[in-house]
Amino acid sequence: MDYFQINGGNRLKGTVTISGAKNAALPIMAATLMVDGETVLQGVPDLIDVRHMCKMLNKLGVQTRRDDDGGLRITVTDEMNCHAEYELVRQMRASVCLMGPLLAKRKKAQVALPGGCAIGDRPISLHISGMEALGADSELISGDIHLKAKKLIGSEIFLGGPFGSTVTGTANIMMAATLAQGRTILESAACEPEITDLGDFLIACGAQISGQGTPRITIDGVSSLRGCEYAIIPDRIETGTFMIAAAITNGELTLQNCRPQHLLAVIDRLRRVGVIIERQDDGVVVSSARRLEPVEVSTQPYPGFPTDLQAQISALLCLADGNSMVTEKIFPDRFLHVAELNRMGARIRKESATVMIEGVKRLVGAPVMASDLRASAALVLAGLVAKGQTQLDRIYHIDRGYEQIEKKLNAVGADIARLSE
Ligand code: EPZ
Repeated sequence: MDYFQINGGNRLKGTVTISGAKNAALPIMAATLMVDGETVLQGVPDLIDVRHMCKMLNKLGVQTRRDDDGGLRITVTDEMNCHAEYELVRQMRASVCLMGPLLAKRKKAQVALPGGCAIGDRPISLHISGMEALGADSELISGDIHLKAKKLIGSEIFLGGPFGSTVTGTANIMMAATLAQGRTILESAACEPEITDLGDFLIACGAQISGQGTPRITIDGVSSLRGCEYAIIPDRIETGTFMIAAAITNGELTLQNCRPQHLLAVIDRLRRVGVIIERQDDGVVVSSARRLEPVEVSTQPYPGFPTDLQAQISALLCLADGNSMVTEKIFPDRFLHVAELNRMGARIRKESATVMIEGVKRLVGAPVMASDLRASAALVLAGLVAKGQTQLDRIYHIDRGYEQIEKKLNAVGADIARLSE
């Protein structure tokens, strides 16, 4: 199994190009199940999760092929199979996004319930109730959700759950509604930029959608969708991760191909910490003052502070000059990085869904273990600044959501080796 060997202490300097957004690419790839003809997606990052989605699409009668220029060409050739199998779904929760397109286009879907996840309980009841609201019948048989509908009929659907809206639930139901008969209104829809990107892609394929990116999305069903060429938005979570990499190493990074407007809550918090963030034409320049101020952070649905950057900013706040508080309001158990950071000399104390972070003078390299995608990113950031060497095991977690992260970091002065046991 691969692991990273990180020698800390280098200040990062240079330019990093941000890749396309994983969480936009995955639902958009699922949406191609609904279109006739070829779709060409530009800017799809080469990640484990993207390759996994390609594998699932292939099993569902969809051809996928990478062009030499990196474009991803997708064409539906056979609509017989409607079963997203547990063996594949359990490896990637985003597979649940296959549900809406399969039901809308093939009038039935059999999708394995994703099961447990390292960051906590992740039900999909809002997805299923949304499909039922569109007229589908659902039944749970041996861990698979079976959905079928002769016809989907537009409806008003409320998508708010106990922790705010559901991102992939909004994606799933917006996709299903594009081929339903009549008007669907999604209330309390997720406003993430990845939802906006999915809506824009569907419109480019001929869908009639308005309000994507706001809490109310209106979809007027159409009879068919046609493939198109579409460019995925840059990854705001990768952008935020590299902003923090510049700050934690007291370096200076220029981040290209990014949308700072997708990170206003993150920029707000980082500026309060003392990070200097200047906008440029297609990116930002990030550097940090020597002294980091402690802050309070609470994760929220977009446009609030994203839960996917909670572990990363927690790593930065380990070195602030004072005590910080970070509250996780989306996934209250999303703290698997805490024990590992404490192994590196951090002083973090967890109290239910909040961690108190007492700033320390330095972190010290140690063998640590990745447990989920964003926790592993936080441990890489800690290793960049820790005194001595950090060994990070199970780095397949990080390869799920970051394209060649060690190559990008080494190109701006980091010292990370990818080794195999
Ligand atoms: C998406 O997951 C992202 N994944 C996650 O990114 C991200 O952390 C999450 O949204 C929140 O922003 C993709 O887009 C592929 P949710 P999703 O449904 O859609 C509860 C990463 O690191 N909920 O918005 O699965 C749920 O338990 C990943 O890239 C219900 O209660 O998340 C959670 O507390 C990790 N009932 C909250 O809503 C439901 O039916 C938000 O979940 C569905 C969700």
